[in-house]
Amino acid sequence: MPQSKMNTLAEWLKTSRCVMALTGAGISAESGIPTFRGVQGLWEKYDIMEFAHIDSFRADPVKVWRMLLELDQTILKARPNAAHKALAELETLGILGLVVTQNVDNLHQDAGSRHVVEFHGNAKRFRCLDCGTPYERAQVNFSEPPPRCFCTGLIKPDVVFFGEAIPWAAHARAFDMARQADLVLVVGTSAVVAPASDLPILAKHNGARVVEINPEATVLTEDVTDLILQGPASQMLPPVLDLIRRRA
Ligand code: OAD
Repeated sequence: MPQSKMNTLAEWLKTSRCVMALTGAGISAESGIPTFRGVQGLWEKYDIMEFAHIDSFRADPVKVWRMLLELDQTILKARPNAAHKALAELETLGILGLVVTQNVDNLHQDAGSRHVVEFHGNAKRFRCLDCGTPYERAQVNFSEPPPRCFCTGLIKPDVVFFGEAIPWAAHARAFDMARQADLVLVVGTSAVVAPASDLPILAKHNGARVVEINPEATVLTEDVTDLILQGPASQMLPPVLDLIRRRA
């Protein structure tokens, strides 16, 4: 990685007025959570429409809960990595205003980020699909899936399935920020799932710089991205943070 790209990002971070990050599965890959797409991706093992659409969940909740429980064990074991921590530190330094994450693993919050929009929900919370009653993990009986609410409705993790709406408050806050931002860090996302993928495009349209941190080029790289740090987030973000600290 040319040092000059890290220097450029450090400079842009220091001089920007309103910085947001959009993160995806790639930032948690080094915490042991598989990404969705690509060779080892979750959607290679499980058909996306059969396992991640709300209609499939309603039609065969036992089957979908089997996948959810496997994912749940992986998420429970995961700890934030150096990339989550670097973003949290950028917030503490007053540089990063908001993390909009498509991840449901809570690792940004675990790393210390306080301004986080959970665009696709949070797998550590649960909710009844019929009456909306929220449940803590300890209240859910996982022994004979699917767990059921007192109203007999299906309980599901509080995450957004395909065919469901993005929580309106998360949607509004993320899009407000994208309109105001002058720098967007796009970290570890293939940027193929809308409406999250619209955020960097909207920001760019309003004059923001877009920086990707990803080992691979994405659909944004050619036309939207101003700078790409091509490598794992945990190896790209900490040195940039060091550069900022040294120049403070
Ligand atoms: P994807 O699996 O589509 O993309 C992961 C991205 O992370 C890819 O571009 C990888 O190149 C990159 N990547 C892998 N390892 C990395 C690392 N160490 N550091 C940085 N980047 C790395 O995951 P998302 O873009 O998050 O939604 O997927 C978006 C949405 O699709 C998910 O929120 C989920 C999924 O279906 C729903 O289920 C609603």
